[in-house]
Amino acid sequence: MTTDDLLARHRAVLPSWMPLYYDEPIELVSGSGRRVTDAQGRTYLDFFGGVLTTMIGYDIPEIREAVERQLRSGVVHSSTLYLIRQQVELAEKIAQLSGIPDARVFFTNSGTEANEAALLVATNHRRSHQILAVRNSYHGRSYAAMGVTGNRGWSASPLNPLQVAWLHSAERLRGLLSRLSADEQVDAAVEDLREVLATQTAGDVAALIAEPIQGVGGFVHPPDGLFAAWKKVLDETGILFIADEVQTGWGRTGEHFWGYQAHGVTPDLLTFAKGIGNGFALAGVVGRAEVLESVPAISFSTFGGNPVSTAAGNAVLDYLLDHDLQANAARTGAILADGLRAAVADLDCVAEVRGKGLMLAVEFVHPGTREPDRARTVRAFEACKAGGLLVGKGGLYGNVLRMGPPLTLTEAEAREGLTILVDAIRAAAEVPA
Ligand SMILES: Cc1ncc(COP(=O)(O)O)c(C=O)c1O
Repeated sequence: MTTDDLLARHRAVLPSWMPLYYDEPIELVSGSGRRVTDAQGRTYLDFFGGVLTTMIGYDIPEIREAVERQLRSGVVHSSTLYLIRQQVELAEKIAQLSGIPDARVFFTNSGTEANEAALLVATNHRRSHQILAVRNSYHGRSYAAMGVTGNRGWSASPLNPLQVAWLHSAERLRGLLSRLSADEQVDAAVEDLREVLATQTAGDVAALIAEPIQGVGGFVHPPDGLFAAWKKVLDETGILFIADEVQTGWGRTGEHFWGYQAHGVTPDLLTFAKGIGNGFALAGVVGRAEVLESVPAISFSTFGGNPVSTAAGNAVLDYLLDHDLQANAARTGAILADGLRAAVADLDCVAEVRGKGLMLAVEFVHPGTREPDRARTVRAFEACKAGGLLVGKGGLYGNVLRMGPPLTLTEAEAREGLTILVDAIRAAAEVPA
């Protein structure tokens, strides 16, 4: 069967609001390390990892063997009504790594459910459904997670169980705070927070939820230290701080294990997903016991933290720590970031190369302006594929290339991908606007 047949069948039976990448979508049929092969036999270096989720890489023996061991036991599922050794072990590790004192962990199947659980415990703990969220954010596809998502393109319904007030994101390219220096941005964002609390809330706000680096938003991030400045204000009235680390966790940013650590602050709740399962459905929330225990009824996830996904999660985490992949993300990320910045410095269609570690983005604009150039972004995106490199797209205006390779990326692979990326960007830049 050809990919064309599969595409037609896909379109006939799956909803159109679940988009496919590329003019000619591809089916990945095998993978090894950082490379995948499509149904036509073309091999690609993968700099997107199924949206930052294949965090260790493809076909990693340690992870495969851990999952196979669990399968061989015959117990694929037991429900959380029974003790699950793999789940307890993983919770112990995550509680310890979280940096949150006296932590408890609740496992879910997706980042959406992790944020939903964080919002559940925060609103119960504070007896308030008022939440502060950040513009240009993405937190998931359930009503509450959509409700705190500040991106029109990902807001599929206005229905919202929460009352949400919006903060500026303190990004550098656009918005009211963008022309300020980093210190001025922090001051202005704190002023914004105080004003929002005074004018848009009834005072008893439950929590602020924020991504350290906005994933879907195009890897936009505020100046380091902003979260600590915000938290000072939140602490005045006991408002909780939720760090959504679904994309930024596990050392991806290179400089820290969690994105929140760039800010000198400890969150009350932290949500994780994507990379921890390396493709197996595994996510959750970790938080201070007194907050996480604020659930006045049974709250149960049939599949959350099941024996197979937590077997994978333990193997992923052990591999990550044993191989110090955070240091590798810093090292290989620097090769990419430095190489990209040097190679596009003369291009006036590239507004910014940004990000941290192995979470890097290139934003395209119409030359000489800050007007997003989506068409040129798509050209660079397709040219990467033609050159044998998979990358992601994103940003509020769809004008950002996103790179989030597996954290096992080698220096040679970083250089190989960089060459393809630079060629693709320069080819896209040559086409007149
Ligand atoms: C920061 C962030 N939070 C939450 C989610 C939702 O995760 P999931 O798609 O697993 O529900 C995503 C997904 O892209 C994300 O990037």
